[in-house]
Formats: sequence, C-alpha cells, structure tokens
Amino acid sequence: MDISKVGVVGCGLMGSGIAEIAAKSGFEVRVREVNEEFLEAGRNRIKKSMDRAVAKEKLSAEDRDAAWDRLSFTTEVTDLADCDLVIEAIVEELEAKNALFGALDEVCGETTIFASNTSSLTITDMAAATSRPDRFVGLHFFNPVPVMKLVEVVRTIVTSEETMERAFAFAKALGKVPIAAKDNSGFVVNLLLVPYMLDAIRQLERGVATIADIDTAMVLGCGYPMGPFALCDFVGIDTLYKISEIMYDEYREERYAPPPLLKRIVSMGRFGKKSGQGFYDWSGEKPVPLPV
Ligand code: 3HC
Repeated sequence: MDISKVGVVGCGLMGSGIAEIAAKSGFEVRVREVNEEFLEAGRNRIKKSMDRAVAKEKLSAEDRDAAWDRLSFTTEVTDLADCDLVIEAIVEELEAKNALFGALDEVCGETTIFASNTSSLTITDMAAATSRPDRFVGLHFFNPVPVMKLVEVVRTIVTSEETMERAFAFAKALGKVPIAAKDNSGFVVNLLLVPYMLDAIRQLERGVATIADIDTAMVLGCGYPMGPFALCDFVGIDTLYKISEIMYDEYREERYAPPPLLKRIVSMGRFGKKSGQGFYDWSGEKPVPLPV
C-alpha cells in the first residue's frame, strides 16, 4: 500500500464520513474546506460521529484519539501538496470541481491520484481538464459512509491499470468492498437508484398512495432498509434534484427527469433530513410525513 497521506476536499455529509473512516483506518488525513465556518462544522461532525462510535463501543477511546491525531484541517489547497491521494467531495457542480482540480494539479506531486466522489457527473469531464487523466478515478462512497460497505471505483477510458490497483487497495484498506464501474453518469448504483426514487415521487404525484404507505410498502414488501421517501430525505432533496438534472442532461431519457414535485420541494427549501424537513418533518422523535 503506497498511499499514506490522503487529502479530502469538502467536509459535508460525504467528505466528513470519508475523512473519518480514512483516519480510523490509519491514514494521515488532511481535510480542506473553503472557510473556517465550514471547516469547524465538518470537524464537529467527525468528532460527533467518532464519539458516538465510542459510546456504542464500536471504537475504543484510544483508537478514537489516535484517529483524531491523524486528522488535520485547512482552508488552503496548497496544504494538500504532499498527499498521495486527494478525494474531492464538494458541491455537485462541474465548474467548481474543475477549478479545484486545476488548483490541485499545480501543487500536487506527479504520482498523486485524484479521485472524485461525484454521484452523477462523469469522471472524464474532470480528468480531461487536468494534466493527469491517467491518474484520475471515481471513488464513489455511500451514505452513511461509516456503515455502507460499497465503493464504486470508476475507470475512464484512460485511467491507468496502476491507478485502478492503487484505488482498489485503498478502498480495501478502509474495510470497504470495491467494485469497478465504467465512467457513465450514475455508475452502477445511481443508474438504478435514482429512477427508483423519482418513480416513487411520480407515484405520489399520481395519488397512488401516501408517503407513509409507499415507504411502508417498500420496507415490508421488499425488505428495503428504508422506503424511497425516507431515502430521498436521507440523500438530500436538493442533491437528488441536482443528480437527476445531470443524469437527464446526459441521457435525455424521461426516467431521469426531475418530477415537478421534487422541484417544488427544493424551492420551498425543504432539503431533507439535514435541513429538518423534506418529505418528512425530522424534528421530532419519529419522522412525520408533510403535506405535499
Ligand atoms: N454513522 C455511523 N454509524 C451509523 C450511522 C452514521 N451516520 N447511521 C447509522 N449507523 C449505524 C448505527 O450505529 C447502527 O449500528 P449497530 O447496528 O452496530 O448499532 C447501524 O448503523 C444501524 O443503524 P440504526 O439502528 O440507527 O438504524 P437502521 O437500522 O435504520 O439503519 C441505515 C440505518 C444504516 C441508514 C439504514 O436505514 C440503511 O441502510 N438505509 C439505506 C441507506 C442507503 O441506501 N444509502 C445509500 C444512499 S445513496 C448514496 O449514498 C449515493 C449518493 O450518490 C446519492
């Protein structure tokens, strides 16, 4: 394993999870956020999650402290210069991602691998804008990162075999199960999962059943861990909207088009669990379906 220092850019829901598991797995992790406020929020999220793991006796206090010591935080891209691998988990916008990778490309060493945790953009569109498209992969993690075992390792037509091998070894070192996917928007999971969530919203629009009953149907009828509306809130309504727009733009197939109701809920600022409301109100002990 020739990767020891890992940069994580973006410390939101996904970035904080990636930073946490990398530090717990023994990697030196440098986390970068755009400003002190976001950095502090990310730092607190990681701390809270590690403390919860200790309280649940999944992690010893010594291992938590050791993992915490392996983490450092910065607002400067230049502080990632000596990382062996940099994983990007910022906002789902190609321009922002390419600006970041452009800056990283100038400061990082020749052998540094760049990885994106994008859900729906193509890796090719980011890799092609750097001087190292052969050392560029997708590393797509799933929420909640500490729990979900899968990592999609995404290969473009020019990703080198060596880069794939290093990315696979890294994912395994995190205790994850990597699978290889071709660089198409949505990779494997979101290509199936996104239309499923959008279809649930269309069912609701048609008045087939209520939010609560559709969720109950999929949990009890199919053994899914949560129903599609709870999952939409979990993924983030704004995120799902962005993903579906990107996938629709790529494939021009109706199944990826965001249903009007999804757009209405985003416009109302109901972004799901993270903002307290989405299809459900999450403020109480149990989620309560909201009128739509
Ligand atoms: N961090 C760490 N551990 C967590 C956690 C978190 N954020 N959330 C839950 N857990 C742990 C709990 O501690 C618990 O562990 P234990 O069994 O050892 O005590 C275990 O997960 C189960 O949690 P709970 O008992 O609290 O609740 P559930 O049994 O309902 O499980 C869940 C919660 C794991 C979130 C489960 O509902 C689930 O698997 N849901 C589906 C999640 C999913 O589909 N994720 C993929 C989303 S798509 C995506 O990420 C891709 C993107 O591109 C859109």
